[in-house]
Amino acid sequence: MKKQLLALVATLVVGAGVHAADIKVVVSADQPGPVIHRNIYGQFAEHLGTGIYEGMWVGPESKIPNVRGWRKDVVAALKDLKVPLVRWPGGCFADEYHWRDGIGPRNKRPVKVNTHWGGVPENNAVGTHEFFDLVEQLGAEAYVNANMGTGTPQEAAEWLEYMTGEGNATIVEQRRKNGRDKPFRVHYYALGNETWGCGGNMRPEYYADLYRHWATFLKTPAHNRPKFIASGGNDKDTTWTDVLSKQVKHNIDAIAHHAYTFPSGKWEGKGSAAGFPESEWVSMLSQVKKIDDVLAASKVILDKNDPQKKIALYFDEWGSWYDPEPGSNPGFLVQRNTLRDALLAALHFNVFHSHAERVQMSNVAQMVNVLQAMILTSKDKLVLTPTYHAFKLYIPFQDATSLPIKVENNPTYKVDKFEMPTVSVTAGRGKDGKVWVGLVNSNATKPAELDLQLGANAPKAVKGQVLTASAMDAQNELGKAPQVVPTAFEAQATNGKLTLKLPAKSIVVVAVEG
Ligand code: AHR
Repeated sequence: MKKQLLALVATLVVGAGVHAADIKVVVSADQPGPVIHRNIYGQFAEHLGTGIYEGMWVGPESKIPNVRGWRKDVVAALKDLKVPLVRWPGGCFADEYHWRDGIGPRNKRPVKVNTHWGGVPENNAVGTHEFFDLVEQLGAEAYVNANMGTGTPQEAAEWLEYMTGEGNATIVEQRRKNGRDKPFRVHYYALGNETWGCGGNMRPEYYADLYRHWATFLKTPAHNRPKFIASGGNDKDTTWTDVLSKQVKHNIDAIAHHAYTFPSGKWEGKGSAAGFPESEWVSMLSQVKKIDDVLAASKVILDKNDPQKKIALYFDEWGSWYDPEPGSNPGFLVQRNTLRDALLAALHFNVFHSHAERVQMSNVAQMVNVLQAMILTSKDKLVLTPTYHAFKLYIPFQDATSLPIKVENNPTYKVDKFEMPTVSVTAGRGKDGKVWVGLVNSNATKPAELDLQLGANAPKAVKGQVLTASAMDAQNELGKAPQVVPTAFEAQATNGKLTLKLPAKSIVVVAVEG
């Protein structure tokens, strides 16, 4: 009888939450690791649906307040997010983009069809000069993706010359005539996108040869040389990383990998963005393990093929991808954004931080109105998504020094056949000198309590913010009160112990005090 009573009490405790003292997190603040590059918080903006046109670019004549055509409200929200860089113009769009279509007087630019995304007219109103105006307004770095699908090495070389040239070559004079005397600062330049798919259905060996060929002709003044990026593999496939890091030894600074996450784990029948059961909450979040796995496998390959660590790994497309929103153009990739997406983002950040030595950039897909967006717009209105708030909470980690963490007794969270660790943790010393800890409790129904230690001791207190909501698919909708907004979070040590109570389905980011 006594035994049964004890079992009942234990069940109640577990039922009430994942209990204190069970989970212990130890941060080693005295063992600094690699820097968490701010570009891990990079963005991706493609000519796709209303991602650029309407969502960000409304044109200088629009009644929507804008600076030279870029929406003031959207730019202000993105500046608050401290967006470090923007990748443009695609994606698959880049694989068919001819940069000369996007320069000169806007009313004289050719109208084309965006064959990849929805078959809609593309009037080329946003081109090179407009893109650089956007990144300069944001104070962000520029990542330009050149066309290797239908372009030529000459076209890719001349685009770079047009942007960075300084002398009196005709192509540089053309840039001046188009309104830009000073060269643009191109921080990153990629040759091709998804060359295994929409970028040309190539084999890695063939692409490696093409890359070596094309990259030979990329010339810039030495002080304005971008980092050159090769298009890499997808999802769990590390073949491209292996072949490229073995076969390309010059003019390569990074390999760009992509991996999207669908609740079903499959391209066909991806699953819904909202109105899903708890099993799909876990199926979605637990897939972040594949990101960790592919990064761990890539590290082994790169450490072997590039022991001097000259080649970084960029994760330049990632995020959630759901079935098209009913009633929307399926080619516009419109989807709702919920609390689940915010947790998915934070889990990605924690994984990227743990591979900071090689992973020096990531670009969420995409910035506005497309896939896992930061901002959704409709006419002159905008709403900040739960994912936006996850990015904002993690700002202190931009350029922080990563710190080792140990998580003990982390229970498994399991629903149906899907399972994952309950708590995910990251830590870093921010540029402000403080130790920051980012925590995710993935359990959708139960809070988690954990004891936090800095080395052998409990800190005095922590202070920061928490992001959670009552429903798994809580979202922020235009014209309605937002359901997912950060609120203050703090905890104090008692009796030499600092216990953090993470609400169910939450992200907590705190600075450690004392
Ligand atoms: O982000 C949407 C698309 O996903 C990109 O255009 C492409 O590179 C990827 O397949």
